[in-house]
Amino acid sequence: MTISLIARDLRESATLKMNERVAIMRAKGDPVIHLGGGEPKSLPPLDALTAAAGLLNSGEVRYTAAYGTPDMKAAIIRYTHDQYGYRPTLGMVMASGGAKQAIMCALQAILNPQDEVIFPSPYWVSYPEMVKMCGAVPVPAKPMDGGLIPTISDITMRMSSNTKAIMINSPNNPSGAIYPEKFIKDVVALCEKEGIYLIMDDIYNRLVFGGKRVTNPIACASDFGSDNCKMIVINGVSKVYAMTGFRIGWAIANPKLIEVMAIIQSHQTSGPSGLLQKAAIAAINGTQSCVDNLVMTLENNANVMVRRLGAFDGVKVTPPDGTFYCFADFSTYNKDSTKLAEFLLNKVMVCTVPGVEFGMEGFLRLSTCGTSKEIIEGIERMKWALDPNSPNELIIGQRKMVRDWL
Ligand SMILES: Cc1ncc(COP(=O)(O)O)c(C=O)c1O
Repeated sequence: MTISLIARDLRESATLKMNERVAIMRAKGDPVIHLGGGEPKSLPPLDALTAAAGLLNSGEVRYTAAYGTPDMKAAIIRYTHDQYGYRPTLGMVMASGGAKQAIMCALQAILNPQDEVIFPSPYWVSYPEMVKMCGAVPVPAKPMDGGLIPTISDITMRMSSNTKAIMINSPNNPSGAIYPEKFIKDVVALCEKEGIYLIMDDIYNRLVFGGKRVTNPIACASDFGSDNCKMIVINGVSKVYAMTGFRIGWAIANPKLIEVMAIIQSHQTSGPSGLLQKAAIAAINGTQSCVDNLVMTLENNANVMVRRLGAFDGVKVTPPDGTFYCFADFSTYNKDSTKLAEFLLNKVMVCTVPGVEFGMEGFLRLSTCGTSKEIIEGIERMKWALDPNSPNELIIGQRKMVRDWL
């Protein structure tokens, strides 16, 4: 079988692969604790479910405009005004099949083969592959100080005559870090000065802890929305409303670019599902207490996780500012994060995601989406497996695990 050069070069999504492994193990009856996931356990808002059920019952589920229904665009405009203090015009909005598709359409609209896209490490697993799918070149920018927060010189030192775009995700998947205001302002200024695109992936921007604030990129831009503005702001309902399976996200950018992105989307999927747009509209327009509840749960879980990880002698972890994740340095135990994640899954049935998939070897990404009980037990199991002073046996469910390693 021959496949395209681009397809040959693509890697499977590490996070989706882990989900699949867990599903198979659980189907066999293995009591796996899944600390690898990236979706809340809470249900979507009732408003969203009722709205979608109403449309489904009517049977009137049809094609919609490629960039979304008028109601969907109106809801996104309202959302953007509420969250960013900026009211985009109708022409600046495109709804998509998740934030992922909105990013992909943006990349396809702006990249030529060999163009380069810079994004800080650690990064979301899909960024490199999405750039490669456009025939372009991903350029991860690992902070020079070895930490999780990039500086503007980490970005500028990777710039070349081929740099077409910079992609920023803050708060960040996987580190949970909010990037400093100065960094965001510097990146916006850099992109404006150099005439390069800036994709702001804001999918986690409401999931922040302790009253912390995420810098509003739109407020940093000198001409957001003008035909010359090259900033694209991405958001969606997946994370904030626990609506991952509904696959609704969006992009806000200058109308000319949105027009091109909508043409691309029209030939890919004809646009997001009308049924699921209906649900997303209801979530956006409905009561927002579900978001506060989710933030409270995530913050509590993150505190539990950081405290428990603190009981590991060799593990270094920076408390996350937001998101669903703790990104912890386990390199004292094993510098190869793939082998370590594999070991933990095989020996104590705890699923984590190897840091190497996010561009940071030696780390593991641990999800705070589950219950605090799962987090506590998951970390206890990991500690038992990794600490050479652990007792020889551990009972997991009905099984007696015996340490036959280390
Ligand atoms: C940083 C980041 N951006 C975008 C997405 C995609 O979101 P959606 O489910 O809306 O496609 C994810 C999902 O994991 C993510 O972590």
